[in-house]
Amino acid sequence: MSSHNESQDPGDVQAAIPTQPSRRRFLQSAAAAATVGAAPHLRAQTQTPTAPPAQVQQAVPPRPVTLTVNGRAYTLQLEPRVTLLDALREYAGLMGTKKGCDRGQCGACTVLADGRRINSCLTLAVMHEGETITTVEGLAANGTLSPMQRAFIEHDAFQCGYCTPGQLCSATALLNEFRNGTASTVTADVRARPAQLSDDEIRERMSGNICRCGAYANIVAAVRAVHEGGGQNSGANTPNA
Ligand code: FES
Ligand code: FES
Repeated sequence: MSSHNESQDPGDVQAAIPTQPSRRRFLQSAAAAATVGAAPHLRAQTQTPTAPPAQVQQAVPPRPVTLTVNGRAYTLQLEPRVTLLDALREYAGLMGTKKGCDRGQCGACTVLADGRRINSCLTLAVMHEGETITTVEGLAANGTLSPMQRAFIEHDAFQCGYCTPGQLCSATALLNEFRNGTASTVTADVRARPAQLSDDEIRERMSGNICRCGAYANIVAAVRAVHEGGGQNSGANTPNA
């Protein structure tokens, strides 16, 4: 007599085994599912991001700009974005005005516009048509240095000289501002004309001009000397300064 198991067909044995997945098959299936789920993310990582469509910048074409500098008219082909500093140096060829920081911090680029001192790196050339611009090249007249230029030499008010064009223009305007009664932040009573041009007043009024060589004491001495020497025609051989 044979047992029930002995008479059973092997195929029937397989069929009788419960249909649970093996551990290996389960892990394979899980890994495959994870790969499929992650595929879009992986594709996103490996795809080169497409650049946004480029903004087409329309350049504003240069146009003639006439600047009166040191008594001479210069008609320059300038884009509107050109600063007065770059117009002077790169287009008019007046390299005396210096570019230090190009962002209004050092004063090396100081020039006079209708007698007012300005940082030429912070203003556009097209804004100064019709004005009288004076650069360091225009302080001397007919080969004669201005009183301020002579005082800088006599008081040894520079070392490397890089800041000096701006210092000279600034000091020139400073004496005219004082003569016209303009107060500064160290003026005791800003409602009255400043009584005297003290060293504190000079230092404050020259504080926009940085000297990396540290010639400040001699610069103050030079400005004081010109002021005490009369202050009239204080340092510029120009009509507005
Ligand atoms: S270059 Fe203009 S302030 Fe420095
Ligand atoms: S003299 Fe050198 S930076 Fe002023």
